[in-house]
Amino acid sequence: MKMISSRAPLSKLTAGLFCISFLVYLVIINSLEGGQFGRVADPASFSSRMLMNHPASGSGDGSNLHETISNSGVITAIDNMVNQIGAAGSELTETRVKDISNEIAKQIADYVVQRLGKTAPNSNPCFACWKHGNATDLPVIYLVTPTYRRPEQIPDLTRLAQTLLNVPAVHWIVVEDSSSLSPVIASLLKRYGIPHTHLKAQMPEKYKKSKLKPRGVANRNAALDWVRSNCKTGVVYFGDDDNTYDIRLFEEMRYTKKVSMWPVGLVTKVGLSSPVLNSQGVVVDFYDGWIANRKFPVDMAGFAVSVQLVLEKSDAYMPYVPGHEEDGFLKKLDISPADIEPKANRCTQIFVWHTQTKSNTPANRTTATGKRYKGTNIDTLQEWIV
Ligand code: UGA
Ligand code: MN
Repeated sequence: MKMISSRAPLSKLTAGLFCISFLVYLVIINSLEGGQFGRVADPASFSSRMLMNHPASGSGDGSNLHETISNSGVITAIDNMVNQIGAAGSELTETRVKDISNEIAKQIADYVVQRLGKTAPNSNPCFACWKHGNATDLPVIYLVTPTYRRPEQIPDLTRLAQTLLNVPAVHWIVVEDSSSLSPVIASLLKRYGIPHTHLKAQMPEKYKKSKLKPRGVANRNAALDWVRSNCKTGVVYFGDDDNTYDIRLFEEMRYTKKVSMWPVGLVTKVGLSSPVLNSQGVVVDFYDGWIANRKFPVDMAGFAVSVQLVLEKSDAYMPYVPGHEEDGFLKKLDISPADIEPKANRCTQIFVWHTQTKSNTPANRTTATGKRYKGTNIDTLQEWIV
């Protein structure tokens, strides 16, 4: 069982939390031994429902479980715990309290599963990602990532995957600009346990030859089709594979009504792309190194759109016009600058950077395929060479 003390520092609260979580175990185990539990089918959703005091959805086991938990006083114990945390320090935000509660609930679930003699099915490398298995009441962020084969692809996707492990209620739509789905990417997606959809959509041949390519457009449009066929609520964000995301960004966009925007750090001379706000906090202009004749001169990483609006404006796609992808798409959504919801503390903070991984020339395979390495680990490692 994982110990809280090996995780994020909980300072003076740690000892108190331990006691309370142990108390909660006792209550649950007591109920278990009383034979009231048939089985725990889904430990993750079990703990989430218990914690949030949600009635179990569905029927059978689930609702019995919830009643048992309510009756056993677990909810009261947790309420007391949350109250204690709230009273203990003013630096504790609601989010922090939820995180602490989540950690404890996870331990309870682990313990119950252990007592039942079953192994938890979660082989994710990160503690935080157990959240991904949970049904939460948070709006889901559909994060659309176009990607294509190059030496930096797997390193970039690894970095982004590990960022997303820290984000609850995210669905990662990874769209390869390729004629086939890469097994390496499929296994990366599976390994991290982040809810995902793996698609492919190739840049049309005619654009491949041009110097300025509409990069990621076919991919993003395929993702928009997928969202329109599969989603009813939530928010869509276009997150390229080579950018750098502060995880606070995702909570900014989560409750987008129509279109939300925020500043993007640029690693160029301009340094910044951002909506300009007046003293009332209304978007009145845009700051960007390249305004051109764009109505919305924003960066791809600087806005999110609600699924509802994507569904309403069913003909909104990204145009195959380099540099005008964002503007073309936003214009199709039929919004005015006054409709824009500014985020990141009235656009005063930067939570995303439009970075670029240095582009490298593909490796020369001949060295690794030489006779000298036949039958060694280098043979195996070759599949990683791009
Ligand atoms: C910027 C914007 O952020 C892009 O959204 C926009 O498409 C692009 O400019 C443009 O106007 O051409 P930039 O950083 O210059 O992006 O481009 P990349 O990072 O190389 O490409 C954007 C995304 O598309 C990345 O996620 C990349 O993996 C993907 N991509 C790129 C493809 O899927 N296929 C390609 O041939 C190139
Ligand atoms: Mn990029």
